[in-house]
Amino acid sequence: MLKIAVLVSGGGTNLQAIIDSIEGGKLDNVRIVKVISNKEGAYALERAAKHGIEGICISPKSFGERADYFKALSEELKNAGTELIVLAGFLVVLSSDFVREWRGRIINIHPSLIPSFCGDGYYGLRVHEKALERGVKVTGATVHFVDEGTDTGPIILQKAVNVEDGDTPEILQKRVMEQAEWIILPQAIRMIADGSIKTS
Ligand code: GRF
Repeated sequence: MLKIAVLVSGGGTNLQAIIDSIEGGKLDNVRIVKVISNKEGAYALERAAKHGIEGICISPKSFGERADYFKALSEELKNAGTELIVLAGFLVVLSSDFVREWRGRIINIHPSLIPSFCGDGYYGLRVHEKALERGVKVTGATVHFVDEGTDTGPIILQKAVNVEDGDTPEILQKRVMEQAEWIILPQAIRMIADGSIKTS
């Protein structure tokens, strides 16, 4: 059984995709031991509660020093028995010390085909705005291991999604989620749970 913790900041549709995969039997060797949000009232926490999963908010704002926040986060993850951290729309940039401590045991979902439209400042709708601005005909999503850089870690899975005439950033974001993110994130977790890729 792979024990995962899911880190979120907002709506939690990727969290929902993981929950659905577990409940639907596609991730039968995975258990979510904790959902942690950096934002009070994130809807993702409600999703966790609805499915009997423990969820908490740990906000960087409650800590004077950034290092103390990451220490608390790490403690919480360890106490829950976390073996893999899944960043599912988590908007806090991790400290190098945190990444070092959990090296090879953190994955992230990014809503583009890395190395396009990624790196500092590329999150949320902005990723899709930039893809439309550039006029790409294909975009998609990437699941990757997290290293000290922004979106620079080893790639686990990618899935392409077509850009259609008349797309707005919002429409494209929804298509990328439905056709790529919600599919490859559970798949990548499955690969790690099955041992078909190494986590370190
Ligand atoms: C997703 O687009 C994800 O790729 C990005 O943030 C968004 C989170 O959405 N990193 P949700 O909270 O899972 O609905």
